[in-house]
Amino acid sequence: MTQLYSTLANIYHEMLEIARIEVNTEKFIQGDMRDLTFHNQFDSVMITGRSISYVTDNRGIIDTLKGVHKSLKDNGLFVFGVFEVNGIFDNFDDFEKNIQHNNKKIRRISTMKLNLATGWTYDWIAKYIIDDGGKIFEFDDLTTLRAFTKDEIMFFLKLTGFKIEEMIEENKTITIITKKQLA
Ligand SMILES: C[S@@+](CC[C@H](N)C(=O)[O-])C[C@H]1O[C@@H](n2cnc3c(N)ncnc32)[C@H](O)[C@@H]1O
Repeated sequence: MTQLYSTLANIYHEMLEIARIEVNTEKFIQGDMRDLTFHNQFDSVMITGRSISYVTDNRGIIDTLKGVHKSLKDNGLFVFGVFEVNGIFDNFDDFEKNIQHNNKKIRRISTMKLNLATGWTYDWIAKYIIDDGGKIFEFDDLTTLRAFTKDEIMFFLKLTGFKIEEMIEENKTITIITKKQLA
């Protein structure tokens, strides 16, 4: 049986605390994806949850991809997802989601605003209303996200030494499967 060893990274220690409870992984690292420095190299790297869309400037994207390249073994796989420009901006509506997590009922009201400062960027303003056993808490969260065209992604990957294996386009997202290309 193949054994899977994984390392999980996030920029915020609060997110790692949640992951420690929810995910069965050996190593948790607090770090910025734009500055990846590992002592070892991996068979594969995944940037999940479209997290690369949180990096909104070209320099940051290139630094992230170069860091992933350095962290992979030869022919290593890199899989990540992004928000896609047409999918996002053709349906640029506010939306609402209700989530049940353990004993908490979470209502998330999302408002979208154009930003366009450093690419196809937009602001996602989320209001969370949490009902925790009858006690109500409210939080506001503002995140600037970047959407990408397919061509932009292809060019970023060409610049940083990845060969595209597959691009899966779905609704508002693209999932990209790549291999580290040798120099
Ligand atoms: C949509 S959440 C995805 C969470 C989780 N990875 C998943 O797949 O369910 C995006 C995550 O990216 C993290 N993040 C944002 N910018 C980052 C950066 N520069 N380096 C590392 N993590 C970052 C945020 O803290 C947030 O937890």
